[in-house]
Formats: sequence, structure tokens, C-alpha cells
Amino acid sequence: MEDMEPKNAATGPTFAPPLFSFSNPGGASFGFGFGFDSGAPPPPPPPAVEVLLSEESPVAVASLEPVMVDDSLSIYKGRVSTADVFAVKNSDLVPGKYEGGLKLWEGSLDLVKTLNSEIKGDRLLLEGKRVLELGCGHGLPGIFAGLKGAGLIHFQDFNAEVLKCLTIPNVKVNLFKETSEGTCTSSSVGFFAGDWSEMDKLLLCGDAEKDKTTGGDTEDKTYNGYDIILMAETIYALSSLPNLYRLIKKCLHYSGGVVYMAGKKHYFGVGGGTRQFLRLVEEDGAMQPELLNDVADGSSNVREVWKFSFK
Ligand SMILES: C[S@@+](CC[C@H](N)C(=O)[O-])C[C@H]1O[C@@H](n2cnc3c(N)ncnc32)[C@H](O)[C@@H]1O
Repeated sequence: MEDMEPKNAATGPTFAPPLFSFSNPGGASFGFGFGFDSGAPPPPPPPAVEVLLSEESPVAVASLEPVMVDDSLSIYKGRVSTADVFAVKNSDLVPGKYEGGLKLWEGSLDLVKTLNSEIKGDRLLLEGKRVLELGCGHGLPGIFAGLKGAGLIHFQDFNAEVLKCLTIPNVKVNLFKETSEGTCTSSSVGFFAGDWSEMDKLLLCGDAEKDKTTGGDTEDKTYNGYDIILMAETIYALSSLPNLYRLIKKCLHYSGGVVYMAGKKHYFGVGGGTRQFLRLVEEDGAMQPELLNDVADGSSNVREVWKFSFK
């Protein structure tokens, strides 16, 4: 895992070969696919919890590295070792225990760059928007939304430790300013940990069904949900796609909410991928997909960025 991290602060991150390829030269045991090697059932999901800014971990941010979005914009990210936080070495993830959030994955930068192009092409406005980043890890897409004026940003990760050690420090470095009254940010930020099957208890709900019965005309802000949901590299495990899609539909504002998703066409060995997610969306029939970007750089699996909106 660590060899996936940036090597050179001046040039920004370098990314590793295809993740989840199962051609693991280091010989580490991944045990992906939620089919544990031992045949034991996965552990029960962790409870959904809110993580406060004050819970930032002292492990955090030994060194800060810039990630170039374009010539005029960099986002800074910290670096934390899985060995220090989860006592796990040489592993991208341990299903049900650690879901990969300490590493910066290629898709998150694909997503940020696509959002940047959408803004430049006047197809996206983030100013004042309520944004949720699912499976955030470093949180670069959510941080980008903050830099572009989002009014509220909620960051979700499976692991509270990831939020405490990495996401919160990254958010503070990029979005908080020192003032005479202390540090503050112009966006309202929140951090939530837990499994997608549980997260609707804490996140805003768009409640598409309720809005449909009232023609979308509700004054009840708690049922307005997020204007924009962002997610990168969250669709690798086939088994978690239904919960992820259910959560998105619950949390997205009806009917104007939009999802931006970056991911690989296939995650070999774990069964997920953009095609599998699209199949789920098409079978359900509530949302329409649009391909915004595909990155076939020859060196890895094809990567894509998709946009979804209610029909
Ligand atoms: C491969 S990492 C991607 C991290 C980050 N988005 C990036 O691209 O750098 C997958 C992320 O999805 C989240 N995740 C995976 N399965 C999950 C589940 N069942 N419930 C909640 N979050 C999950 C984890 O929090 C993890 O950070």
C-alpha cells in the first residue's frame, strides 16, 4: 500500500499499478471480495458515528504533499501509514476492517479534474451547494468542492480512524484560515464514519419518495438532502453496491440532486466496477447515467467518471 503514495512533493502524487489486480508482486494477502480466506463471515459493520473536528488524531500529517489539479490549483494532502493506524502492513484493504481510505486512489484525482472541467465549461456550480463525499479517504473531491465555494460538505468514510488521521487534517490545511478569532472556514463541514447500510441515520436525507408525493415542494430542510454527492473508487466490491445505491437515493436531493462517480471499469477479483454499478442503476430505473470522462492511459484498467441524476 505504501508504495502507492506520492514519492515527490514537487511533482505531486504518483499512482500505483491497477488496484485490486490480484497480481500482487509483493505477495501480500489481500483476501478481497468480502469472501474471507478463512470462510468466516465478515464482521458486523461498525456503528454509524459522527466524528468531531476536535477528534483529530496526533498521528496525522507527518508531511504534506501538493496534488496538482491544474496550473493554478493544488490541494494539499497528508500521509499516514496503515501500519501506524490499523497495524496492517502491505495491504490496500482488509474487508470489513479497513476499506482503503488511507491511500490516495487514482479515481479521486480523475473526479477532481472532471469537476474542474465541468465548472470551467459552465456545466457545474458548486457555490453554496450541499455536498456529500462518500468513501472519502483523503477527501480531495470534497475539499475541492469547498475551495469552489460549497456551503456545506459532509465527508463519510468506513473508518473513523481515517477521518481523524487524514480527512480532518487535510480539510483543515486546505479549507481553514487563521483569523484573529481563531481558525475558521467559510464552508460548514461534518465527518461521519460507518457502513453504507447505516449511514442514512446521520446524513441528510433527500427522501425522494416523500418529495415525489409533495411534488418536490417541501419546506422541511432536513428532508432536502444533498445537491451533489461525490465518490471515487467506492464501487469495487459487488456485495456493497446495493447498500451504496440505496444510500445515494436516500440522501440525494429530489429531484435536482446530482451524483459524480469515478471508478474503474472492472476491479478484477472483487467483482465490482462501473459496469456493475450501472446495471444496478438501470435495473432500478430511477436515475439516468451520463459518461463524462474516460481515462485509458494504457498503463492500467480503464477509469471512468459518470454523472447520475433523477429521471
Ligand atoms: C478504495 S477507497 C477510496 C478512497 C478515496 N475515495 C480515494 O479515491 O482515494 C474506498 C473507500 O470507500 C469506503 N467504503 C468502502 N466500503 C464501504 C462500506 N461498505 N461502507 C462505507 N464506506 C465504505 C471506504 O471508506 C474507503 O475510504
